[in-house]
Amino acid sequence: MTPKQTLLRGRVLSFTAEPQGAEDTSAYAFIEDGALLIADGMILAKGSYDTVSAQAADATVIDHRPHLLMAGFIDTHLHFPQVQVIASWGSQLLDWLNNYTFPEELRFADAGHSAEMAGHFFDLLTAHGTTTAVAYCSVHKTSAEAYFTEAARRNMRMIGGKVLMDRNAPDGLLDTPISGYDDTKALIAKYHGQGRGMYAITPRFAITSTPDQMAMAGALVKEHPDCYVQTHLSENHDEIALTADLYPQARDYLDVYQSYGLLTEKMLLGHSIHLKPREIDALAETRAKPVFCPTSNLFLGSGLFDDAGLRSRGITNAIATDIGAGTSYSMLQTLNEGYKVLQLQTQKLHPLRAFHWITRGNAVALGLEDRIGTLEAGTEADIVVLDSRATPAMDLRMQRAETLSQELFILQTLGDDRSIAQTYVSGQPMKP
Ligand code: GUN
Ligand code: ZN
Repeated sequence: MTPKQTLLRGRVLSFTAEPQGAEDTSAYAFIEDGALLIADGMILAKGSYDTVSAQAADATVIDHRPHLLMAGFIDTHLHFPQVQVIASWGSQLLDWLNNYTFPEELRFADAGHSAEMAGHFFDLLTAHGTTTAVAYCSVHKTSAEAYFTEAARRNMRMIGGKVLMDRNAPDGLLDTPISGYDDTKALIAKYHGQGRGMYAITPRFAITSTPDQMAMAGALVKEHPDCYVQTHLSENHDEIALTADLYPQARDYLDVYQSYGLLTEKMLLGHSIHLKPREIDALAETRAKPVFCPTSNLFLGSGLFDDAGLRSRGITNAIATDIGAGTSYSMLQTLNEGYKVLQLQTQKLHPLRAFHWITRGNAVALGLEDRIGTLEAGTEADIVVLDSRATPAMDLRMQRAETLSQELFILQTLGDDRSIAQTYVSGQPMKP
C-alpha cells in the first residue's frame, strides 16, 4: 500500500545556497502558487501546484495560501532547563548564572519536573516554528532523558546533551569527571542516532569544569567523533578573566577547549564575542562554528557579535535564541535583534540571507543540510507556514510591501509566534 500523501499548497520559498540579496536568484526558489508533496515524514516533491498536484491525484490537499511555506526553523543554542529563567532581571552573565540559573537547574534532578518542563519546552519550540534545536540539558541524566524522550515522542530532529560541570556551582549541580563521562556514554548509547535524536557532548564552559573534566570531555570527543560538541566561549569580560585565572597555561579562552581536543568542525561555540586574533585563526582552521545569540547578548549586556569579521575569514556562523538568557523563543525575533546588533556595527543583514540563516544556514552549520533546512525532495518534512499579516500592525504594513524581500523583512521585524500559522514536524501538524 502506498503511504498516505499530503499536498501542502502555498507560496513556497526554499534556499539552495546563501543569498546575498534579492538579485541572487540562483540561491533560492520562490514559487507563488507552489506545493509540497509529503508522505511518511519526508518531502517527495516540490514545485508549482499544477505540476505537483498532477503527480498526486489521491493526496489530501491542505491549502495554506496566501501564507509562505518554508523549512522549519533551526535553533542552534538554547537551554532546556531555563524555561522558567527567561526574563530574570538585572544582572550580567556570572551573577545571572549564580542568582537565577543554577537554582532553577537544581530542580531538574527530579524526573517528574524534567518531564513536565520538556512538554512545555517542545510545545513552545513548535509554536514558534522551530523544528530542530540544539539544547543544553541540566547536569542531571534525568533531564537529558526527559528531553530525548519527549523529542522522540514528537518525532523531532533534536540535538542535546547533559552539561558536564564539576566545579563553581552548587553541590546539587556538580558531577565528577568520571560520573560525567559515564553518564554521557550511557546517554549517547541510548539516544544518539536513535530515531531523529543526536547527542552533543556538553562541557558547560571553562569555569564550571576542572582540567580533569576537560580531559574526560576530550576523551568522549575522540571516542564519539560523530557526536556534536557544544560549549560557551568569550561571552563576557569577567568570564574571560576568571577563565584565564582557572587555566593559567592556556594561550587564550579557546585554547582551553583546543588543548583538550574539543575543537573540531562538530563544535558549536555559543557567543564567541570577544575573540583574539589567534582564536579567530583557530576557528577558521578547524571549521568550528561560532553561534550568534543576539537577544541574549543584548539582554545580559555581553557585547556585539562580529558576524562580518568572522565571515570574512570563511567561518560559518550559526544563529540561536540562547533561552533563557535569550528573551524570545522566536527565530524571527532573533533575526530582528540580530539585525540591530549588526546595524550597531554598520554590518548588513539582508532578509533573504536572514531567512536562509535560520533554515538552511543553521543546517549547514550542523552538517545536516541534506536532511533538514530546505524543502528539497528527499529531505525531512519539517515545514513552517508563515502568516505575514498575523497582527493588525503587520497587516497595515504589508499593504505597502511590493517584493518578497520586503515581506520577509516585515516578518522578521514584526513577527513572532503569532505569525506561525502551522508547524509540520515529520509531516505532522503540531498546531491544532
Ligand atoms: N555560560 C555558561 N552557562 C551559560 C548559560 O546557561 N547561559 C549563557 N548565556 N551563558 C552561559
Ligand atoms: Zn547558552
